[in-house]
Amino acid sequence: MYPLRRNRRLRTTEAMRSLVRETIVSPNDFIVPIFIVEGKGIKEEIASMPNYYRFSLDMIKPEIIELWSLGLKSVLLFVKVPDHLKDNQGKEALQANGLMQRAIKMVKDTCPEMIVMTDVALDPYSKYGHDGMIANGEIVNDLTNDFLAKMGLSHAQAGADIVAPSDMMDGRILAMRTLLEKEGFHNTGIMSYSAKYASSFYGPFRDALDSAPVDLQNIPKDKKTYQMDPANRIEAVKETLMDIDEGADIVMVKPGLCYLDIVRDIREVVDVPVAVYQVSGEYAMLKAAAEKGWLDHDAVMMEQILSIKRAGATMIASYFAKDVVKLLS
Ligand code: PBG
Repeated sequence: MYPLRRNRRLRTTEAMRSLVRETIVSPNDFIVPIFIVEGKGIKEEIASMPNYYRFSLDMIKPEIIELWSLGLKSVLLFVKVPDHLKDNQGKEALQANGLMQRAIKMVKDTCPEMIVMTDVALDPYSKYGHDGMIANGEIVNDLTNDFLAKMGLSHAQAGADIVAPSDMMDGRILAMRTLLEKEGFHNTGIMSYSAKYASSFYGPFRDALDSAPVDLQNIPKDKKTYQMDPANRIEAVKETLMDIDEGADIVMVKPGLCYLDIVRDIREVVDVPVAVYQVSGEYAMLKAAAEKGWLDHDAVMMEQILSIKRAGATMIASYFAKDVVKLLS
């Protein structure tokens, strides 16, 4: 009862505030997304993601060394596939010498201790820009699962520590886990994008990889038949529990900020680590507002990251990872 309890007593100085602080952000919290392109000497800025780049394999080396020296210990790899290699089956994705497979080896050669996570989905390899194969105007579920399992295996064979299916097909975790076990990859983890919403915040990412769904007759123009409806909450818990049953080691909620209620719901019911993906549109919004001088970039960035962690994230995939860690040190 006031004045016996005055809450401001514990807010008087920064030392006092830090003594009672409940949430601490550290470099251990981050997964760094990395975009990779074919070629040599390439480090090109992504137009809708200021200060974020696509790297050719040779240019990844110094980047990985820098990340490790900053205390960032896990990366999530994405590749931009040239148009002429795209089809409806993802043939290129299974090449032992494909861009992703070479990238995994390059990161491991550069820094063996770096945790290498890989995106497993068809969209960068699909001429339609969808995460699954298309037949009769539909995204086919089970056929896609067989493909995703092979893709995950191929990444594991190249040296990936954790494969991260981002496609939202039903049953893909079971298909992937089963094949990995059968082939002896008992220690390859699966980070499942369990509650991935059909969000409009992915635009800049699709620019980065040139992977947006194409505008063709008889092809769905969005991903709403497989990614989740932003209106749903209970369904996110169902999706996540099913993925854990099927063998997911880490589950994910995506995007971040608009979905922190979902993060909290899931944190309270699962017994595995929960990852949150703070996506490209969230990054772009802050960059744009800061560029206009309307928001304090660093302060808002830290507040967002802190809030994601406070909501229940064990780890955060974020394009801000490097900026945050530099600011922390
Ligand atoms: C595709 C994939 C997407 C993202 C990660 N994997 C886009 C999509 O589903 O269309 C989005 C990441 C971001 O926006 O930062 N499998």
